[in-house]
Amino acid sequence: MSTSDYPNPGQSPGLDPVRLNPSLGGVGLSPQGLAPALGPGLPDEALLTRLANELFSAVPGSPPGFGGVPVLSAPVTAPPQVPVPDVPLAAPPSQGSLPNAALGPLSIPLPYEAELDALLGGLFRGGSSASAAHDMELRPDIPLSTPPSAGTAGHSSPVPLPYDAELKALLGGLGGETRVADPTNGAGSSFYFLKDIGSVPGGIGVPGQTGPGLHSEFASAHPPFDVNAIRRDFPILSEHVNGRPLVWLDNAATTQKPQAVIDRLSHFYSHENSNIHRAAHELAARSTDAYEGARQKVARFINAPSTEEIVFTRGTTESINLVAATFGLQHVGEGDEIVITHLEHHANIVPWQQLALAKGAKLRVAPVDDRGVVLLEEYGKLLNGRTKLVSFTQVSNALGTVTPAQQMVEMAKRVGARVLVDGAQSVSHMKVDVQSLGADFFVFSGHKLFAPTGIGVLWGKKDLLDSLPPYQTGGNMIQDVTLERSIFHAAPNRFEAGTGNIADAVGLGAAIDYVERIGLENISRYEHGLIVYATKLLSEIPGLTIVGTAPEKAGVISLVLKGVKSEEVGARLNKYGIAVRSGHHCAQPILRRFGHEATVRPSFAFYNTCGEIDLLASALRDIQRQAGHSHL
Ligand code: ALA
Repeated sequence: MSTSDYPNPGQSPGLDPVRLNPSLGGVGLSPQGLAPALGPGLPDEALLTRLANELFSAVPGSPPGFGGVPVLSAPVTAPPQVPVPDVPLAAPPSQGSLPNAALGPLSIPLPYEAELDALLGGLFRGGSSASAAHDMELRPDIPLSTPPSAGTAGHSSPVPLPYDAELKALLGGLGGETRVADPTNGAGSSFYFLKDIGSVPGGIGVPGQTGPGLHSEFASAHPPFDVNAIRRDFPILSEHVNGRPLVWLDNAATTQKPQAVIDRLSHFYSHENSNIHRAAHELAARSTDAYEGARQKVARFINAPSTEEIVFTRGTTESINLVAATFGLQHVGEGDEIVITHLEHHANIVPWQQLALAKGAKLRVAPVDDRGVVLLEEYGKLLNGRTKLVSFTQVSNALGTVTPAQQMVEMAKRVGARVLVDGAQSVSHMKVDVQSLGADFFVFSGHKLFAPTGIGVLWGKKDLLDSLPPYQTGGNMIQDVTLERSIFHAAPNRFEAGTGNIADAVGLGAAIDYVERIGLENISRYEHGLIVYATKLLSEIPGLTIVGTAPEKAGVISLVLKGVKSEEVGARLNKYGIAVRSGHHCAQPILRRFGHEATVRPSFAFYNTCGEIDLLASALRDIQRQAGHSHL
C-alpha cells in the first residue's frame, strides 16, 4: 500500500494553480495604472490628504537528565547589560476597554496612501480602504520581481522587493528626503531597504522614461502572487473581532491554518485514523503511510538528505530539550562551553542553562550591537576548543533580526563545535536548506508554518542522531526488549517513544505542500515588501520607536509607543480587531538589552496586506492620541 492508493486531500482545496501561473491567466499590474501617481511633478498633497481622509473615515470598527535540578544561575558569560529604565508614562492611559463605538473613525491620513495604492494597484493592501481588510477590492496577482539569488542558506541576501525601485523612487520623490526615523538615535543604523530611498535614478519607470521601469520589471514574468486568493484559503481571516475584521499580526506566535490543512486533518480522522503499525490492518497502513509521507515532505522541505534524519517532536522547545538531554548528556562535561547569542528565545536559553548547571559547564553569550545584529567578531572570540555546542536562532522572534547563520555555523565548525540552528521563526519566511547551512541540528515548530500546534521537527545528521542516547523510552522506539536489557531503534524512531502526534504530523505535511505551492522565494519577496512598507509607515509615527533595526529582518517589527505601556497598546489594538503580541515575547534578555521589559510586536505572514498595515498604523496613532500624546 502506498499513499497513491488513495487520494491526497492535501492537494484538493486551497491554492488554485491558475492564480499562480501567469501563463494561465494571472493578471499583472498595468504600467498605465501607475500614471496618475507618476505624472510630472508630485501629486497634489491637498488632494491626497482629502482622499486619504475619505478613505479612513469609513473604518469599522524538565527533560530527562535534568529532573530535579534547581533553577539557579548557571555560570554564564553574558554581555554587559544596559540598565533597564523605567518605562515612562507621560500620562496615564485611559482606563479599561473602550467600547467599539468610542473608537470612532481613524482620522489620521495615511502617508503615501494614494501613491502606494496607485503604485501597488491595491495589490499589497489586498484591497484599499481601512474600512475592511476583507472587503477590499480583490485585485489579482502581484507580478513578482527578480527572484532572489539562490543563497546557500537561503537567507543571507536581501530579497528583492516587488516594485522596490519604484517604491523607493516614489517615496524619495514625495518626501524630498528619506525621512526614515533613526531608532538608534543617531547610532548610525538604518534599514537597508530604506537607506537609499531617493537614490534610485530614472524616476518611477513610467513607459517612456529611463530608469528602472516597471515595464521591464513586469517582463520578468514571475508567477503572480495573489494575496486575496491566498487569504480566501484561510477561513479564520474572515473572522470579526470586536465588530471589526480580524487583522492577524501575531504570526510569530502562531500562524493561521489554510483550509487544505484543516481538510487534511478532517480526512485523517475520517478515513485513516489508526496507530502507526503498518502491518496490522488497512487503517494502520493508511495512517503509517500518511505519517511517513509527512516525514518525506519535511525532508524535502528543508533539503535533508534522508527521511531518517527527521524526528517528529512537539515543537521547537521539545526539539531543543531533546538535544540538550541527549547530546548534552553525552558530550558536554565539566568546563565545557556552550555558546548562544543574546537574541535567543527562552527555549534556546533555559535548556542550556540547565545543562550547564547539571554538568558544570559554562554558557557563553554572543552580544549584539544597537541594531540587534550579532557581533561576529565577539562571537568568534567566544569559540574555542572547549566549545561543545553553539545554538542560535536564524531569525529573532523578538526583533526580527536575520542572523548570518551560515557564517556562524562555519565559524563554529572551525573549532570543532556542533551547531544547532533554531528555525522556529525562519521556516515560514525563507527557504531553508540544511545541507547548505551546514549545522548539525535544525529545529522548528509546525504551528509557525501554517500547520497544527503540537507538532515540530528535529533534523539532525544521521550518524550523530544514531550515536545519541534516547530522549524518552518506551514503546515504538524499541527494537528488542528483554527483562534484562533493551535495544533501541536507530533514528528517527529512537526519539519517537510512545504514540506520537500522528494527525498533526500529517497536517504539517499538508501545510508544507501548501507553502511549496506558493513558493518560499515568492513568500520571502512579498513579505519583504510588507516589512518595508510597515517600517516606513511606523517609523513616521511620532513617539514610536522600532526596537531592532538590523539590516536584515524577517517577519517581525518590535516597537514601543512613548507614554503608553506595550500591554496597553496590545489591548487597545484588539479593540480595532488587530491581533499583535505585546509583552516580553519569551525573550527577556534581548528586550532588556534594549532597555525594555515589553514591546508591541506586529508579525507578518504572506497573507497580510499593506491595507492591514495601514490599519495598524492608523490605530497606533489613534491610541497615542487617545492617551493624550497627540502632541508627540
Ligand atoms: N515563540 C512564540 C513567540 O515568539 C510563542 O511569540
